[in-house]
Amino acid sequence: MYWLVFAACVLLPSVHCASESVAWCYDQPSCNYTTWPVIATKFCNGSRQSPIDIVSASAEEDSSLPAFSFKDYDSKNALNKIENTGKTVKVTFNSGLQVSGGGLSQPYDSLQFHLHWGNGSSVPGSEHTVNGKRYPMELHIVNLNSKHNGNTTLGVADSTGLAALGFFIEEMSGNATGQPASWHTLSSYLMNITNAKESVSVAAGISMDDLLGDVDRNKFYRYLGSLTTPNCNEAVVWTVFEEPIKVSRDVIDLFSQTVRVSNSSSPFMINVYRGIQSPQKVTRSAISSSSTTCYSLGLMALSLALGRT
Ligand SMILES: *[C@@H]1O[C@H](CO)[C@@H](O)[C@H](O)[C@H]1NC(C)=O
Ligand SMILES: *[C@@H]1O[C@H](CO)[C@@H](O)[C@H](O)[C@H]1NC(C)=O
Ligand SMILES: *[C@@H]1O[C@H](CO)[C@@H](O)[C@H](O)[C@H]1NC(C)=O
Ligand SMILES: *[C@@H]1O[C@H](CO)[C@@H](O)[C@H](O)[C@H]1NC(C)=O
Ligand SMILES: *[C@@H]1O[C@H](CO)[C@@H](O)[C@H](O)[C@H]1NC(C)=O
Ligand SMILES: *[C@@H]1O[C@H](CO)[C@@H](O)[C@H](O)[C@H]1NC(C)=O
Ligand SMILES: *[C@@H]1O[C@H](CO)[C@@H](O)[C@H](O)[C@H]1NC(C)=O
Ligand SMILES: [Zn+2]
Repeated sequence: MYWLVFAACVLLPSVHCASESVAWCYDQPSCNYTTWPVIATKFCNGSRQSPIDIVSASAEEDSSLPAFSFKDYDSKNALNKIENTGKTVKVTFNSGLQVSGGGLSQPYDSLQFHLHWGNGSSVPGSEHTVNGKRYPMELHIVNLNSKHNGNTTLGVADSTGLAALGFFIEEMSGNATGQPASWHTLSSYLMNITNAKESVSVAAGISMDDLLGDVDRNKFYRYLGSLTTPNCNEAVVWTVFEEPIKVSRDVIDLFSQTVRVSNSSSPFMINVYRGIQSPQKVTRSAISSSSTTCYSLGLMALSLALGRT
């Protein structure tokens, strides 16, 4: 009964798991996400549940949303451990990574990222969808409000205790394989964690900036939602970036063909995402490219200076 794992632990470390855990899964009718509002009623039956379909035409521009700052996202020594949780593949960070700005009220400490996927590049499995489009995969960076000093129990009890950053992953065009190099390296660890509860250290060499690639981090959607796994706590400020990370097909396929939900005789981990929940009010950023702004301000200063002399 591999699916009867008591684990509310996908998103959060053991502190949270100790209390109120519930048996849930993605792949069995008795515990898949359609049952969560019943088996984990407390929050999964709430009114600001994630993920949602983002309707781009309904997302009003909010010009008060500033750009994000990412601290240590360029560190090549930021990734600590990669783990098969039985529900996802999770990578924990060494301390020091932080995200601020972006309309967040405080800095948030980056704790971990994990992934959601379908069944290879042809059966998409992102959690959020945009105008009904589901992407092959979605990466979630989980961040805890720094005022909670690393205490996730406090974080999940606070309506803005967590900030999640969602990045879609799309297949790279052309016939590239093993691209980009950072994703090739990351996916090479999957063979070391084929069974649930296995983990290995990640060697230095990959930064978060490498993994996020050239996605424009000034273009994002914002709404208030929840954890997408039980207990579905309504504690999350969601940011979903518009542009996808481009990854070659072979790397995407490895996720659904390598890691298993339990031991070596259990099924591969596939379709590890929650279905769409009720709509929420979504806004979008309207940040002009900073280089353009500096350039035109510079020109303005220059012409003012010239005008005076
Ligand atoms: C795999 O796990 C299942 C249930 O979790 C168990 O019945 C089976 O014996 C295990 N197989 C091996 C090879 O450990
Ligand atoms: C989830 O389980 C329900 C029965 O509880 C079933 O009708 C549905 O097809 C399942 N959905 C998925 C995505 O597995
Ligand atoms: C979920 O909440 C709705 C509205 O509050 C309620 O009608 C429904 O009975 C609840 N479902 C469960 C399983 O508790
Ligand atoms: C997932 O994809 C593989 C390879 O394409 C296929 O063999 C398998 O049947 C698929 N699994 C499901 C549940 O659709
Ligand atoms: C987190 O905060 C809760 C509530 O104040 C407290 O009971 C718990 O001991 C704290 N956990 C840690 C690891 O400090
Ligand atoms: C990809 O490979 C196929 C078959 O080898 C070839 O027909 C096609 O032109 C290639 N596409 C690109 C963009 O290189
Ligand atoms: C992963 O497994 C491969 C093949 O068994 C092995 O060569 C490599 O050392 C392992 N890597 C880690 C980090 O354990
Ligand atoms: Zn997630």
